[in-house]
Amino acid sequence: WEVEDVWADRAAFWADWLPGPDTSAGGIPLRISQLPTENSQLPTENSKLPTESYLLEISGSGVLVQAGTAEGVFRGLATLRQLLPVEVEGLGREGSGAEAALAQGFRVPRVRIEDHPRFPHRGILLDVCRHFQEPDFVMRQIDLLAQHKFNVLHFHLTEDQAWRIAIDAYPRLTEVGSTRTAPDGTVHAGFYSKDELRAIVAYAAERHITVIPEIELPGHSRAAIAAYPWLSCTGDSLPVPTDWGVFKDIYCAGSDTTLGFLKTVLDEVLEIFPSPYIHIGGDEAPKVRWEECAACRKRIRAEGLADEHALQSWFIGEVGAHLARRGRRMIGWDEILEGGLPEGATVQSWRGMEGGLAAVAAGRDAIMSPTSHCYFDYPLSATDLEEVYAFDPVPPGLDTLRLAPGVAAPGRILGGEGNLWSERAPQHLVESKLYARALALAEVLWSPAPSTPRDFGAFLARLDGHLRRLAAQRVDYGLEGDPVTAAFAPSATPGTLAVALAPAFPWVSGAAGFYLPGDSLPRSSGMLGDTLLVTGEGEVRAQVLHRNRLLDELTVFPVAGHAGLARPLTLLHTLDARYAASGPGALVDGRLGSNDFRDGAWQAVQGPDLGATVDLGTPRTLDSLAFGLYLYQDAWIFLPDRIDVELSVDGRAWRPFTLTPSPAPRAPDDRQTRIRTALPLPPNTSARYLRFTARNGGPCPTWHDAAGEPTWLFVDEVVVY
Ligand code: ACM
Ligand code: ZN
Repeated sequence: WEVEDVWADRAAFWADWLPGPDTSAGGIPLRISQLPTENSQLPTENSKLPTESYLLEISGSGVLVQAGTAEGVFRGLATLRQLLPVEVEGLGREGSGAEAALAQGFRVPRVRIEDHPRFPHRGILLDVCRHFQEPDFVMRQIDLLAQHKFNVLHFHLTEDQAWRIAIDAYPRLTEVGSTRTAPDGTVHAGFYSKDELRAIVAYAAERHITVIPEIELPGHSRAAIAAYPWLSCTGDSLPVPTDWGVFKDIYCAGSDTTLGFLKTVLDEVLEIFPSPYIHIGGDEAPKVRWEECAACRKRIRAEGLADEHALQSWFIGEVGAHLARRGRRMIGWDEILEGGLPEGATVQSWRGMEGGLAAVAAGRDAIMSPTSHCYFDYPLSATDLEEVYAFDPVPPGLDTLRLAPGVAAPGRILGGEGNLWSERAPQHLVESKLYARALALAEVLWSPAPSTPRDFGAFLARLDGHLRRLAAQRVDYGLEGDPVTAAFAPSATPGTLAVALAPAFPWVSGAAGFYLPGDSLPRSSGMLGDTLLVTGEGEVRAQVLHRNRLLDELTVFPVAGHAGLARPLTLLHTLDARYAASGPGALVDGRLGSNDFRDGAWQAVQGPDLGATVDLGTPRTLDSLAFGLYLYQDAWIFLPDRIDVELSVDGRAWRPFTLTPSPAPRAPDDRQTRIRTALPLPPNTSARYLRFTARNGGPCPTWHDAAGEPTWLFVDEVVVY
């Protein structure tokens, strides 16, 4: 290549992946040229988004990238890069063999591409609080985002579990707030100096990515409160928490000192981040402390506010006004709609798309990142690549949007973001969660609105080349979805479950076995594609080869072959729609729940009891019953107080039993775990019918953060031996 023309001096960092310059015979020139402002060759509709439009033309006489702005050129070069051989990604990387592979020259397709993005806001959120990410790693992600035409890094810098940005006025924020020591003694620490942050911002700007900092308020603020207890309503000394969830100690909205603190912090943030938008969080802020706080109650009276929700709106409005005086605009999570949307705020919708739609109806702008499609921290069992690819930031209902009274014109949907929360993503797992899902989102946010649903199969075919590119860059990308599918059916032998395993994609293969607890050798085994027979309660474990890489992690299906398999079952209570598994029969399908309560095997109700009747077909001798339960009090999932069991031979006379789960159901317990609880039956117990009711012990107890809220009961299987 020979790079010419107006932006040639900057081509070095735009195109460190460009081979050359090659002046040998057969080379062609790359011309980067400024689009004439008049007689534009680009369609006029591009004038809506002029800064990122570009023309890329590859012909016999050379390669032309033409745009009105450096940003447009940069996007055009990103497209050109995708048209070059994968080997260019290895250039300059020792051992890649790229130089040799490209030495004989290579071909590029003749194209003429006129292009511009559908949305002006195309972002990825990195949560560097739950687990810290090194500055070099963040910059590497910025490179990867730029390569896929993202233009926003949403940098989540403060949280309950850490404060990661140095603030001169309040040194304890990082001295105290950037470190937590896990119960196992592991120290999680790290923060960014202002110089490091400026370097990240500059690095991103060179790649036409805006870094939007998020300073969370009024909730998710325990690390700050650990540093300065006077920020909260109670003033109590509290540690930086080491567990996850929503905490009730938040900034005091009645305290002028706390507000002053936030304004000072934000002023220092603004010095580092030139972004027109500043994210102020606003999500998941329980109001219990405010309800009990004299200062907060006084503020409510003094400002004539209706309640604590209006107080949150007032508090965020104060912060927003402060930002506005400094020429910045605020973004907040959709909870900022509660109590009245503060002036000038853009809403980031995460609890579905409704919040974003409400903002648009109120004449405000919205950014869409619903949990259903955009949470890349969720396991693939919850959000796989196909779901991300099916995302449309503009929901169908927008056509019939009703504007709020007095609103002249709707707001805009600016675009979307993929959110990588990091409770379960220490730095070494971040890339496997981001990619390939971020690639699907990149296309959704850039490409024109589809007139028919996007073709996932075609995307998968194109993905192959992109993943090879990522592999050459040593990106530790993840899977497209769960790699193994499993179907569960009773086998011809009573009490034995047939588990049919299959690779979910053509590029997946592997082997599997069924293991009873404690076993090192499988009881039955086979290849993906085979059916394993399972008797008793244990795990089917598959070892998976994905695109020629052996995965570190086994794919595990907890299973049980037992006497109740596929017997007719009647639920006595309606399951919550989100946790209905494959239907009522799922309580006796042989598939057990994993440690992930959203895995589709768990069944749950919030508030009532959970019970069912099972017909075993004929009276039979029973040894024991077992129930699979889930315990996760932080997520309001409690064990039942007891399980009432009744057995009957004829469906008329019933013999009662009681099963009390262990540990004690209502005692505080910070684990997130499956609990298997068994009921041994007296010798020679015979029954045809089995009836059980798991008793919900009532709302969250007084000691719980969500005291008084209805609790969940989770059951995965009723195991009958
Ligand atoms: C969020 O996921 N709490 C925004
Ligand atoms: Zn208060």
